[in-house]
Amino acid sequence: MNDAHFNTEIGSDLSRAIEILNEGNLVAIPTETVYGLAGNGLNESSILKIFEAKNRPFFDPLILHIGNLEMLNQLVSNIPESCSRLIQKYWPGPLTVILPKKDVVPDLITSGSDYVAIRMPNHELTLQLLNSISFPLAAPSANPFKYVSPTMAMHVYQQLQGKIPYILDGGNCKIGIESTIVSFMGDDIKVQRLGGIALEEIQQEIPDAILANQPEDHPVAPGQLKHHYAPGCKLIPLENSSLWNLSSTIGSNNGDESSALNISDNWPDSNSLKYPKHLYDIKALNENEKIGAILFESAQKSETETMLKNLGFSMDRIQWFVLSESGNTAEAAQNLFSTLRKLDNEQLQWAIFRWAPEKELGLAINDRLKKAQYLPK
Ligand code: TXA
Ligand code: MG
Repeated sequence: MNDAHFNTEIGSDLSRAIEILNEGNLVAIPTETVYGLAGNGLNESSILKIFEAKNRPFFDPLILHIGNLEMLNQLVSNIPESCSRLIQKYWPGPLTVILPKKDVVPDLITSGSDYVAIRMPNHELTLQLLNSISFPLAAPSANPFKYVSPTMAMHVYQQLQGKIPYILDGGNCKIGIESTIVSFMGDDIKVQRLGGIALEEIQQEIPDAILANQPEDHPVAPGQLKHHYAPGCKLIPLENSSLWNLSSTIGSNNGDESSALNISDNWPDSNSLKYPKHLYDIKALNENEKIGAILFESAQKSETETMLKNLGFSMDRIQWFVLSESGNTAEAAQNLFSTLRKLDNEQLQWAIFRWAPEKELGLAINDRLKKAQYLPK
């Protein structure tokens, strides 16, 4: 593989982006979810450059991005009626569908699977770009493998500088969390990844759609790897995550807090499983070291202060981050990844966090937090 070094530019010059992509090179592109690292999705050498720049393993397939439905028909062999309905309602938007691929889609894109993931992003600049080229764009999130996804051009620059020639700057991503992935395989309709469209909305349109078990060792959608989206700062939930089981609470929980999220009156209790043991790793650290605390909403602050004080933490050590003052799940999703990056920018080594409510985009937020959390070996 080549070791090309680029003088990475940031700009909003569409014709420059088109030229670079037509030459087979990569451009980071804005979308409403997160920035993508894009290359010609039908050209193997461009696809290889994506894997190389991201340091991504070949078993993790890529989403093809399209600007019109004609392109969809060129790439997939069958579109079930329920999929058409979903597409009609949510495209362009934060929805990725997995459908049977046609031969024109390289195996490198799908990691050998007969199914390909496709989405039409809702970002004006990128839609213009997609409709100015003759091929779909393969675009994973524009972050090094396993790190937090970028939601602004500068995030991409900080991590991929030198590895790509151009970053198309389209401002801050409005959704801030990746697309919801729905697979249509035979009669099974499964939400493979929670994302920018809430599970409730998908199920309203397709009542049969179920949330796929989140496989960990041999994932269908390897973004579902157990450890993903992780910042350098070690993240620890203030409530024990082992009690927080996403799949078992879906459907049985209409937005009221599940027992997993309730703190018992006599908490903390050293025999209880309600908080993670490794909270004590933090306590053992140098007393002067700052600790981050990520709240879903401001209303959690006083309760969280009490919990931390009960655990023996001095409030002077705590640096607070709030995902949404008012507790709006969409706003919190939009702020999630940039908040995780802030922890690293502030050089915090440890942070505790509170789970989002298990409804709306709170489910996707919790999915990302679950994967970003620190798991001691
Ligand atoms: O919002 C998004 O979807 C962003 C923006 C850039 O569009 N893209 C994104 O791509 O999140 P990436 O590569 O970071 O995550 C795509 C996920 C991965 O978990 C991958 O394994 C899964 O989609 N995926 C892609 N193609 C697949 C396929 N053919 N079958 C199953 N899973 C697939
Ligand atoms: Mg990604």
